[in-house]
Amino acid sequence: MTIATMQGVVKRYGSHVALDYINLNIHEGEIIGLLGPNGAGKTTLIQTLTGITPFERGKIEIFGDSKNPFSNQNKEKMGLVTQEITVLEELTAKENLQFFAGVYGLKGEEKKKRVEEALGFVGLGDKGGKMTTNFSGGMKRRLNIACALTHRPKFLIMDEPTVGIDPQSRNYILEAVKKLRENGTTILYTTHYMEEVQAIATKVVIMDQGQIIKEGTVEELIKTVQHEEKVRIDVTDIERIPVEALEKISGVKKISVSGNQLTIISAFGSGNLDRILTLVKEHAGVLEIQADKPNLEDVFLTLTGKQLRDKEEE
Ligand SMILES: Nc1ncnc2c1ncn2[C@@H]1O[C@H](COP(=O)(O)OP(=O)(O)OP(=O)(O)O)[C@@H](O)[C@H]1O
Ligand SMILES: [Mg+2]
Repeated sequence: MTIATMQGVVKRYGSHVALDYINLNIHEGEIIGLLGPNGAGKTTLIQTLTGITPFERGKIEIFGDSKNPFSNQNKEKMGLVTQEITVLEELTAKENLQFFAGVYGLKGEEKKKRVEEALGFVGLGDKGGKMTTNFSGGMKRRLNIACALTHRPKFLIMDEPTVGIDPQSRNYILEAVKKLRENGTTILYTTHYMEEVQAIATKVVIMDQGQIIKEGTVEELIKTVQHEEKVRIDVTDIERIPVEALEKISGVKKISVSGNQLTIISAFGSGNLDRILTLVKEHAGVLEIQADKPNLEDVFLTLTGKQLRDKEEE
């Protein structure tokens, strides 16, 4: 089943084209990892998809409805975790959740139950009564996510939900997203951390300068840049390594020696590591093996010639 589609959507801010003919299909059960650098248009895409901001041309369909995609009935089944934290600091964690649950029309016992459920879900079960002013960045982020969950949305949209938080909170959030999917929620997740996309996305959509430049599973995208395999082996007696014999192993393209390290480049999918290691071990001790695998950062670099992340941010 299709949860949402965008067809030829264009959005301009003055003369700046923030969304440049976006086509996107989101199917039930997917976690779409929308990956792109600062200013790519991720938030703008989300704002048009949720009806927050108008767009110049194109078509959006939500839950099969393209006539009135942003009807209240549809919005009730959607949850939005905004990039800017919208937690109200003068309230406790629980009061925040009660407020948002109320906005979604929950009442009485049901509301109480759902508030507890959402708090527990983000690991703040014992912090409900605490004022949020003193919460750490990670706790505020987690509460921000919980605020979008009390009405159990079918389609959850998360805009960079892990920016500026500690690794523990990040892992908690990533695990929570996977759990939500197991419980039947479809998720659109934006980030500029490719590790997160690699960890949770069932499909990756890469955006740059208002355009979707590539989409597919992590494996599919990586395959597009994977032409060779590189293995580095640190050995005890480098002078005893039979380089010529190694070169004859099927798939091996190039061998270089530097210090006590051998670098072996093979054709992609050679499956020759076992034979290489057996031969090396016959002549020297193996101290360390490193295999360089391309990642989504390499995909982005190959597609755009740019780094996904600014160096200062790392
Ligand atoms: N309200 C606005 N008025 C004018 N320009 C805007 C507005 N909102 C966004 N833009 C511009 O549109 C482009 C896309 O911005 P957007 O916020 O969608 O990017 P993003 O991918 O979410 O970036 P980030 O990772 O920094 O959140 C940017 O060039 C931005 O400067
Ligand atoms: Mg953004």
